[in-house]
Amino acid sequence: MSKIKNNQSIWSTRIKKNNSSLFQKVGNSIDIDKRLYNEDIKASIVHVEMLFKQKIISFKIKNKIVYGLNKIQKEITNKKFEFNKKYEDIHMNIEKRLFQIIGEDAGYVHTARSRNDQVITDFKIWIKNSTYDINDNISKIIRSTIKLAEKNIETIMPGFTHLKNAQVISFAHYLMSYVEMFNRDKKRFFNNLDNLNENPLGVAALAGTSFNIDRNFTSKKLGFQRPTNNSIDTVSDRDFVLDFLFAASLCAMHISRIAEELIIWNSDGFNLIKLSDKVVTGSSIMPQKKNPDLLEYLRGKSGTIYGNLFSMLTILKGLPLSYFKDLQDDKEILFKSYDNLNNCLKIFDEILKNFSPNKNKMLELANSGYTTATDLADYLVQNHSMSFRKAYQKTAAVVNYAEKKKKKLNELSIEELKKIEPKLKDDVLKVFNLKNSINSKKSYGGTSFDNIKKMIMKYKKEK
Ligand code: ARG
Repeated sequence: MSKIKNNQSIWSTRIKKNNSSLFQKVGNSIDIDKRLYNEDIKASIVHVEMLFKQKIISFKIKNKIVYGLNKIQKEITNKKFEFNKKYEDIHMNIEKRLFQIIGEDAGYVHTARSRNDQVITDFKIWIKNSTYDINDNISKIIRSTIKLAEKNIETIMPGFTHLKNAQVISFAHYLMSYVEMFNRDKKRFFNNLDNLNENPLGVAALAGTSFNIDRNFTSKKLGFQRPTNNSIDTVSDRDFVLDFLFAASLCAMHISRIAEELIIWNSDGFNLIKLSDKVVTGSSIMPQKKNPDLLEYLRGKSGTIYGNLFSMLTILKGLPLSYFKDLQDDKEILFKSYDNLNNCLKIFDEILKNFSPNKNKMLELANSGYTTATDLADYLVQNHSMSFRKAYQKTAAVVNYAEKKKKKLNELSIEELKKIEPKLKDDVLKVFNLKNSINSKKSYGGTSFDNIKKMIMKYKKEK
């Protein structure tokens, strides 16, 4: 048997000429997939343990391979490993080094597997771990949001629809809506774990293998719940990549929406919040400026993250079964989204810790734009047995009158109100009080102070 020389590619016996340097340059992925080295080594160790258990390789060879792989892991961790583009990817780089360390017995490591199942095994393990990392960072945001909400239960602000003042709400209620969004994100990432828990290892190139392997054993040892069912689908499937990219896109979209809103609130026109100096930047020409650059960064990054989702969807569109080189880009795309999203989550947590509501301005704005008009309509229904539509029209007449007189609703006298609806009594005036308005919204999920307190308690208990 001819030996594989260390400076040659694995397929040098079959493919006699070296690839053009340009193809070597574009075809390799080592700079990207070296990130998978831990997973690759772990999966290879479990693979050879299984091969030994099934009597496919000897005890001695198994031990030699495990020894070599552990040594390689230390070398990489200690930055003593030389990655070589010539060997394409992390799998070949490690296998090549294994030959250098333990000699020809390294040749047994690839029994009953292919890089096609190897790479997705590594990748699925990596994405599973990263899913937990992302969810930890989302949890931090949820905790910071709850802290801020606790301090702002009685901070009154206008709630907007169409960016026009709509009804009065508590700022805490507003903040707690972020908690709902981020909890959904966590759930979405978490739901992806079901597919990620299917073990690809052992489907080999696409057809399975003639060796008597034990895929349940490798599943258990690698933390998967079960082996995948169809070898062809397994090597072709990148749904788990798309699931991650989609969950990341949605989470980035939530951050982007909130960032946009905070940018608006921080504008001189609105002036509803103040950002601390830690999260703003200056202008090179206008000495007075404090710009919300970080929020703009967050808003912009959603574009990159969506782009990655669309790149992957497009790569997969029209790709026949099973493995093709096209798929190699999946890792670069997913790593980029992971890095971007994690950065965004950390930055957003910083923002939450570094801004404060401008309470006076919030209150002042809440008191303009006739934000208690719906409260008057509700009052008319509840106290003067009118249909809601009738009450709506009466209230619209009151608003028209107030607008003409350039008065706020709480500046109208009972006499003025009686001119529009003679049945009204003094106690109607209480509906124009902003706190009363908030506290009347006691329906489950509404903005009353009591509701918010209960909701905050509920989420604190869940943590
Ligand atoms: N680096 C390759 C990838 O990420 C590994 C799989 C290679 N398989 C093959 N048949 N060329 O896609």
